[in-house]
Parts: sequence; structure tokens; C-alpha cells
Amino acid sequence: PRSKKTLSPTLAVGADHAGFALKEYMKEYLDQPDLEVIDLGCDSVDSCDYPEFAHAVAQAVEKGTADAGILVCGTGIGMSMAANRHKNIRAALCCDVEQAKMSRAHNDANVLCLGGRFISQERAVAIADAFLSTPFEGGRHKRRVDKI
Ligand code: RB5
Repeated sequence: PRSKKTLSPTLAVGADHAGFALKEYMKEYLDQPDLEVIDLGCDSVDSCDYPEFAHAVAQAVEKGTADAGILVCGTGIGMSMAANRHKNIRAALCCDVEQAKMSRAHNDANVLCLGGRFISQERAVAIADAFLSTPFEGGRHKRRVDKI
């Protein structure tokens, strides 16, 4: 059984060619009754440019079309750089479960970035599960997030 989700219900997902396979795998994991997934591409392993998908997912979260986003490229780095150019987007590149928990608890991250060439499918699912089930702690962390 999955953990209870605190970040839900609509998720925008995006990837470039290097993240495509992991995005497709993540969509299977995210196919749950309490989640709705909007796939903003890419649609194949053909070479493409990660900022296009980072901007699409970030805009969906900015506009409220999605409550949160998941972005996958080779490293997760380019996706996080591009998504974080958007106002009120807090994109967190997470390589393990603890980082994912902290990105929610302390940083109120609303976009999870993953490196498809660096983590296994199992780890990616565990990271996403932690990201989606950890609430923001608020308090002093809200003061700090407000200063971003
Ligand atoms: C694509 O080769 C790769 O540069 C991209 O997926 C990503 O890792 C960029 O940050």
C-alpha cells in the first residue's frame, strides 16, 4: 500500500528523451484512484530539449491546472534549473527518499525533479511516494520559503 498523499490530486509530468522511460514508468505508479496525471510530454525517446517540458509543467503548476509536478531528464539538473525560473515554483532535485521528505517538510517543494540516468525505477517510485505523502511543516520554514 502507498502512503497517504498530502500533495494531490492533479500532477503534471514531463520529461525529455533521457527521462522518457522513467516518466512512463512513473505514470504507471501514479495510476492511482486519488491522483490525476496530466502528461505534458515528451512522447518518445527522440532527442528533444528539456526546458520546453520544464516550462510546460511549471506553467501548469503556476496556473493551478496542476497541484504539483514531476520532471525527469538525464540528471534532473536542467529540469530543476528551468522550472525554478518560474515565480512560486520550488523545484527540488531529489536523489533519495530523505531529500524528498525534506523538500516537502522544509521547502514546500511543488515540483519534483528526477535524474533518469542516475536512479533506479524503484528508487524513483520511493522518492515520489515520499514527496507526495510528506506535508509542509510551515512555521519557521514558511518564513524562510517566503524569503525565496
Ligand atoms: C540530455 O542529454 C541531458 O543533457 C538532459 O537530459 C539533462 O540531463 C539536462 O540537464
